[in-house]
Amino acid sequence: MSAQILDGKAIAADLRKTIQQEVAAITSDGQRPPGLAVILVGDDPASQVYVRNKQKACEEAGFLSELIRLDPDTRESDLLALIDKLNQREEIDGILVQLPLPGQIDEETVIERILPTKDVDGFHPYNIGRLALRMPLLRPCTPKGIMTMLARTGMELAGKDAVIIGQSNIVGRPMALELLMARCTITVCHSRTRNLSDKIRAADIVVAAVGRPGFVQGDWIQPGATVIDVGINRQENGKLCGDVDFASASEIAGWITPVPGGVGPMTIATLLENTLQAAKLHAEGG
Ligand code: GUN
Repeated sequence: MSAQILDGKAIAADLRKTIQQEVAAITSDGQRPPGLAVILVGDDPASQVYVRNKQKACEEAGFLSELIRLDPDTRESDLLALIDKLNQREEIDGILVQLPLPGQIDEETVIERILPTKDVDGFHPYNIGRLALRMPLLRPCTPKGIMTMLARTGMELAGKDAVIIGQSNIVGRPMALELLMARCTITVCHSRTRNLSDKIRAADIVVAAVGRPGFVQGDWIQPGATVIDVGINRQENGKLCGDVDFASASEIAGWITPVPGGVGPMTIATLLENTLQAAKLHAEGG
């Protein structure tokens, strides 16, 4: 293997420690800790694991953490009424509604109901708009966490060619806005993209967020490129794997993120970072 490992687990642990110390300083000053409310609708097994990990991280950081579980047949109006209450509660700085939501609930309507300063996922059109205009407030956790990892490589981003595979609202689109803000040249690929492997071969930075195990092949990668794997796919043997074929890609890339232990831990650490940021905004009267 020639690539250096971009160790998301270690970077996330550093970030969480810094946040924990900052929370300890705030609370020893007599201020309340940051507060996060997580809403889980239904019993999707993957969502239950994600929510549990988020809650555990909050507790370790010294945050107030509240998990609200709702039935799978919850009505949209009841979820909106709950969000209205959380928007008003002074000790709650962040509201996270775990996605996906059951079919009877419209995700966009729910996201838009969250106060933009409590939208720690950074999914509200206000926060996406601010990111698009290069004046970000709360930024989507996975792309922001990836920017933190890229900063750790020490590489100059300005002028780099970046290819993003996947155009989701959660990862692909905000990732494009982040890398554009860092002055990369961006190509966003999706299921209708032609000559995908040629586009990937031209990239200095590849971000794979397609949800297909081992989709990106090593011989699609430019020697020395930085490869960020956002995929979390459960294999038949129960093990997790990414969207990149790690064995072949790590022979060619300059930097590569592992799965597990790459982007996943960064998403959670960045959620804590965003919740602390929201708490500061609220303390300043924002
Ligand atoms: N489902 C998958 N990823 C995410 C995320 O980052 N936030 C929320 N709220 N739901 C998700």
